[in-house]
Amino acid sequence: MKIRTHRCGELKKQQVGQTVVLNGWVQRRRDHGMVIFIDLRDRTGITQVVFNAERNLRCHQAAHALRSECVVSVTGQVMARPEESKNPDLSTGEIEVFVDEVEVLNEAKTPPFLIEDDAEVTEAIRLKYRFLDLRRPRMQELLSLRHGIMQAARDFVNAEGFLEVETPILTKSTPEGARDYLVPSRVNPGQFFALPQSPQLFKQVLMVSGVDRYYQIARCFRDEDLRNDRQPEFTQIDLEMSFVDREQIMDLMERMIVTIFKKVGGVQLPMPFLRLSYDEAIGRYGSDKPDLRFDMPLYDVTAFGAMSQFKVFNDAATKGGIVKALIVKGGATLSRTRIDALGETAKSFGAKGLAWLKITPGGQLESVIAKFLDAQAFATALPEAKPGDLVLFGADKASVVHDVLGRIRLLLGEELSLIDKTAWRPLWVIDFPMLDYDQEQKRYVAMHHPFTAPVDDDVALFESDPLKVRAKAYDMVLNGSEIGGGSIRIHRRDVQSKVFDLLGIGKEEAAVKFGFLLEALEYGAPPHGGIAFGLDRLVMLLGNADSIRDVIAFPKTQKAQCPLTDAPSTVGSDQLKELRIKLDLVQ
Ligand code: AMO
Ligand code: AMP
Repeated sequence: MKIRTHRCGELKKQQVGQTVVLNGWVQRRRDHGMVIFIDLRDRTGITQVVFNAERNLRCHQAAHALRSECVVSVTGQVMARPEESKNPDLSTGEIEVFVDEVEVLNEAKTPPFLIEDDAEVTEAIRLKYRFLDLRRPRMQELLSLRHGIMQAARDFVNAEGFLEVETPILTKSTPEGARDYLVPSRVNPGQFFALPQSPQLFKQVLMVSGVDRYYQIARCFRDEDLRNDRQPEFTQIDLEMSFVDREQIMDLMERMIVTIFKKVGGVQLPMPFLRLSYDEAIGRYGSDKPDLRFDMPLYDVTAFGAMSQFKVFNDAATKGGIVKALIVKGGATLSRTRIDALGETAKSFGAKGLAWLKITPGGQLESVIAKFLDAQAFATALPEAKPGDLVLFGADKASVVHDVLGRIRLLLGEELSLIDKTAWRPLWVIDFPMLDYDQEQKRYVAMHHPFTAPVDDDVALFESDPLKVRAKAYDMVLNGSEIGGGSIRIHRRDVQSKVFDLLGIGKEEAAVKFGFLLEALEYGAPPHGGIAFGLDRLVMLLGNADSIRDVIAFPKTQKAQCPLTDAPSTVGSDQLKELRIKLDLVQ
């Protein structure tokens, strides 16, 4: 085989006249009789190679046999393309290579789909033939972007004195709240490892060990319901630091993300990042990961609701709930059918309804509920609503109103094209509540994880009003996506015990689950904190990918399967026997 002198995306006018060797895949063949063109492709791009019968009859004949995706080595001369056949879309569009020697390095069966970005093909087929799918330029671009982000992150933290330390994959369950993937131990029958949901406990132990600044590009495993931005196996850029406070971590991490976006994507993120408290984010946007590429805030009109004659508003406002409004600018033109459909959507999100009113050009209220409302009082309560606008209302307990209106806001942002798709709106969400109350389990659960430190001033509320205790936790949010989350940790054993008590985690359970960390805390744990970023989500955002599956080389489907390898699969009875596992499958 003749080894390439150049890559397929490299040749320019400067090489005209040179004899070159290219190796690659046949993208397509165009037969014009005496002249046959082939687009030869590798990762770097495409070169047009020309088999001209008058120049080289033997090669021209050989070209007839070249099928799509076969692997060839061609030797030829670089020629400038005539002006009219230049192709500005190709990096090599000014030249073509006239072939004098061709060797087929390998044949290829007819692929099940064209190796082109806009080829029509289902995702199931793409994933089954992932080796072909990944040949598409877009997939190569995303692989390369992912690589770039990982390297830029490494460069940044290496320069800041972080040490990359690997932590175990076969381990004990880490408490991030999802189900664990379990691995049976053959040599310890009846016992199981868990795959880590994150390196959380180990990175804290590393701080006790004096590592001071740790990072890892860490694989995490969570057996949870999948969505377009969630995989059962995903990657974190995971960091932990000692002797720091929240401000230092947030400052450093902000600089890291800004540097990565600039270096890899040429994107200048606006600095400093906006900060919203959890309460502000939820109150204003109905979400703890607000998309700030459009405004459309939620307005509190509870007081107006309390005074109104409309029973739904009145009940909510006077019985511990709230009434909030969304203004759709110019939305009075929306049809009744459209508004009713929004109401149905709101119900599917858990609302009892979605009251609405239109403001006519003359300032009148137009709605089935208008008769219950005082136009003057409304204008005073919501002066932002102007003639021509549509106003939507949620009335219920606060959590329902925020969740439903937050989701309606996003949906309208998308449907009415209110979102500036070229904008980058990063922010920090801080001051999360430390605890959440789990209605089903009837107990408090940690909002982030049980090792997150409370805000100092709030420790006194532990006994009196636990849900008011804020955590030293922070999330980084970009364009409505949670890209990272972390916290200052509890480094004192007594505080940790108190938190476990609150969470109803008994001494025994704590010892079994994370005894090693608790013990480590007793041997001089420094104050510490950290964060983890979702690498896959960073690539999705910077690469403008809709699906997390497009930014992972070998992803799982929504059903947590891998069509390429057919994993997961059944195993032989001998394997199970060795593991002392008996199946009890209910059909
Ligand atoms: P957390 O659970 O918030 O924190 O995860 C950190 C970040 O990881 C990403 N992420 C995911 N990405 C893809 N698929 C998933 N299933 C998935 N789950 C999470 C998100 C998220 O912001 N140990 C803590 C971090 C810490 O406190 O330092 C942790 O894992 O972008
Ligand atoms: P009803 O009085 O049930 O006919 O509802 C009148 C209007 O109020 C309809 O548009 C409902 O969608 C709406 N609605 C009902 N319950 C709520 C609620 N909890 N929050 C907001 N709107 C509601």
